[in-house]
Amino acid sequence: MAKRPPNATDLIHGDAPPGALARTVGPPIQKGSTVLLPNAAALYDDEHFLTYGRTGLAAQAALAQALAGLEGAAGVALYPSGVAALSGAMLALLKAGDAVRIVDTVYKPTRRFCDQVLTRYGVEVEYYDPAMPADHLFAQAPANLRLVLLESPGSLTLEMQDVAAIAAAARARGVLTVMDNTWGAGWLFRPLDHGVDVSVQSLTKYVGGHSDLFMGSAAARNPAVFSKLSQGITHMGWAVAGDDAYQMLRGLRTLPVRMGRHGESGLKIATWLTEQSQVVKVLHPALPGAPGHELWRRDYTGACGLFSIVLKPGNDADGFLDALKLFGLGFSWGGFESLALACDPQLKVRRYPKAYGGPVVRLHVGLEDPDDLIADLAQALAGV
Ligand SMILES: Cc1ncc(COP(=O)(O)O)c(C=O)c1O
Repeated sequence: MAKRPPNATDLIHGDAPPGALARTVGPPIQKGSTVLLPNAAALYDDEHFLTYGRTGLAAQAALAQALAGLEGAAGVALYPSGVAALSGAMLALLKAGDAVRIVDTVYKPTRRFCDQVLTRYGVEVEYYDPAMPADHLFAQAPANLRLVLLESPGSLTLEMQDVAAIAAAARARGVLTVMDNTWGAGWLFRPLDHGVDVSVQSLTKYVGGHSDLFMGSAAARNPAVFSKLSQGITHMGWAVAGDDAYQMLRGLRTLPVRMGRHGESGLKIATWLTEQSQVVKVLHPALPGAPGHELWRRDYTGACGLFSIVLKPGNDADGFLDALKLFGLGFSWGGFESLALACDPQLKVRRYPKAYGGPVVRLHVGLEDPDDLIADLAQALAGV
């Protein structure tokens, strides 16, 4: 008997359900909003079944598990960007009537979220100087202080904080600590080991490593805190794609090798910069004698490629930047390529402004040959 031509039902149901997958070194990239469940009871059994794809499938679970190992966490929540991880963690942990203390060197979009969103929802926002000793910070704190946000080193001027002292003082008062640890990437510094409640990073930077992917993570050791972060994601409806999670996991595999090279080249270039007459200061915490070096030496196992320099007063930062050939001009960092930008326009919003002694330029040292980068900096400095 002649087989009838295929109809729409055949196109939808004509394939065989997948059998056991061949084992590859990376996780399968599953794509799915709908998750098919084995029986009617399972449809409403969220405790034993994953019932909807938004919470993440194989690749997201593999990435979260690997990051939990990196951070020493009970669980890691994934967000569509680093800013989403910072804002998501704060939204999940705060309520109207709470007060927060935010480090003054915080990443500018995090500051914007605190000033423009948290305040709208009745959270009192104040900034503190990164150098403020923990006991001063808490001596001045109101009774409704619920959360302290740290970012160390700050991503423009690289000011270091005494993370362990702040975390211990906060915990003694029942105040939560959240740290933006994008510089340390969980590899050079593990905030949870130092008493921080939530370690956040923009995975977009060093974990992704190729400047082509957005994602953020928030890691917690206390299961109750992690549960709040997860609930926050459920309430906000955030999701990350399986393809992105796969790519991020691929980046994580080579993080130590890349980070070693970023750190080594960065220090070589920073050291060379200390000897240049056009540079008055190098703001790199791993450089002996630089501000924050003692805290870095106490807490960190290495350095990444991000640091800043202060040009002699009167020198034209834009002229220097425009003369660079290998360093691209652009935001972000953590990728394989070297980047530079002027910091002063962003430093204007500081509550506790500091005199750095000249125009501040941030450099991200990528994976190029450091001698080529030095030659590029030398020719650009010669012109300032
Ligand atoms: C210190 C720091 N935290 C967070 C972020 C935000 O990351 P994302 O671009 O993934 O939102 C950035 C981005 O530049 C950053 O520099």
